[in-house]
Amino acid sequence: MKNILEAPFMVETVRTLTNLYRLGWAERNGGNLSYLLYDEDIDGYLDTNKIIRNIPMSFDASEIVGKIFLVTGTGKYFKNVQYDPEANLGIIRIAEDGKSCDLLWGYKDGGKFTSELPAHLMSHMTRLKVDPENRVVMHTHATNTIAMSLILGPDEKEFTRALWKMQTESIVVFPEGVGILPWMVCGTNDIGVATAKKLENCRICIWTTHGIYGTGKDLDEAFGLVETVEKAAQLYMLTVGQDRRNEIKDSELRDLAAVFGFDYRKDYLD
Ligand code: 13P
Ligand code: ZN
Repeated sequence: MKNILEAPFMVETVRTLTNLYRLGWAERNGGNLSYLLYDEDIDGYLDTNKIIRNIPMSFDASEIVGKIFLVTGTGKYFKNVQYDPEANLGIIRIAEDGKSCDLLWGYKDGGKFTSELPAHLMSHMTRLKVDPENRVVMHTHATNTIAMSLILGPDEKEFTRALWKMQTESIVVFPEGVGILPWMVCGTNDIGVATAKKLENCRICIWTTHGIYGTGKDLDEAFGLVETVEKAAQLYMLTVGQDRRNEIKDSELRDLAAVFGFDYRKDYLD
C-alpha cells in the first residue's frame, strides 16, 4: 500500500483546511468538511475490506450506502490537521443499514465524524441529485458573511442582491443566489434537513450568525464559491453605513448576464 498521507485527495484536503484556518474562518473547532471519494482516489492507498469500527449515525443515509467520504472529526481544530491528519480526519463508508458508517481510516484517538454530519450527508444526497459530479460540502465560519447576517437577517433576495451589487464577480460565480437559514440549533438532523432543502436550488447555504455551507465538484470549486461570497460580504461590511453611490445597478447585472450568457435568479432584480 502507498502512503495515504501522500494521496492527492489527502494532500489537497489538508492544504484546504489549513487555508481555511489561516483565513480566520475556522477558529477552534469551527468548520467541517466532507469529500466524496471515488475508487480511483483510494486505490492502492486504502484497504476497504478492513473496518476499524462501526459508528452509528442519527439519520437515514440509505440513498448513499457504500459511498466513501473523507470527513473532519468532531471537536478537531483545522489548525492542527496538517500536523496529524490521522487524528483529525477520518474516512468513512456508509454501511449497509444506512444508519451507521464503517470507519476505514483515521479518528485514531477514538474520535468520530463532525457533529454536522447530518447537514453534510443530507447535502451530499441533495446535491448528487442535482449534479452527479458534486463531491464536496464545506462548512466554515466565514467572518464577514456572519457579520452581514447580523445586519440583514435571513431574507434571501435582499442578501443575494446585496452580494451581487458589491462586485462584478458575484453574480457570475453564484447566479442562482444564496440560500439562508434563520438561526437554528446546529448539529441536529433538523438543520441538516433545512440545509439540504436550500441546496436543491443553489450551491451555497448561509447559516445566520453561524457560517456558510459551500458545495462543489471539487475542493477548489467549493472553496472558490465560499471565498467569493465572503469577499462580497467583506466589501459590504467595509462600506456599511456609508453612502454607496456606485453600487452595481440592476440593469448592469442584467447586461452582465446577457454578455456572459448565464441564467440567474431574475426575480431577485427589480
Ligand atoms: P464539529 O467540531 O463537530 O465539526 O463542529 C464544528 C462546527 O462548526 C459546528 O457547526
Ligand atoms: Zn459551524
